[in-house]
Amino acid sequence: MTKQQKYETALSQLRSLLDGETDPIACMANTAAALHDTFGFWWTDFYIVRPSQQTATCEQELVLGPFQGPVACLRIRKGRGVCGTAWEQATTIIVADVHQFAGHIACSSESNSEIVVPLKTGDRVIAVLDIDSRQYDCFDQTDRHYLEQVAQLITDRIESSRE
Ligand code: SME
Repeated sequence: MTKQQKYETALSQLRSLLDGETDPIACMANTAAALHDTFGFWWTDFYIVRPSQQTATCEQELVLGPFQGPVACLRIRKGRGVCGTAWEQATTIIVADVHQFAGHIACSSESNSEIVVPLKTGDRVIAVLDIDSRQYDCFDQTDRHYLEQVAQLITDRIESSRE
């Protein structure tokens, strides 16, 4: 099966798996499991935008959400690492070699390439989908195309609870 076909299958599986579910954690958990199982990534995780633990500020940070793979760092500040940069810029970032990305946060020395896709409601980023691979240059525009659809599927589910 080509990568494209695998994504088409995963997307249709996710559309039925998440049908009627509006809880963000439940949607993210099954999405991480489905993508991880289908593609055998090293890490498949969500970081969720939450209030910072520093009570003196009203800042936000990324907090580890549902994931598949080895243990990961718990909190990431805006603009830090690939995840914090994708959040700050509100755009997908593909990194062919994480060792060349200034400020990359290495949760594991096994990770060599990464894609981070923001989940957006309007212009606001509410979480990021972060996927790491042990292969260099694992992610391309096909991954971006489909993973942005996956991100949209989840935000649509979450937003449907507010209608
Ligand atoms: N590498 C990420 C940190 C998260 S781990 O990959 C799970 C980054 O630079 O933001």
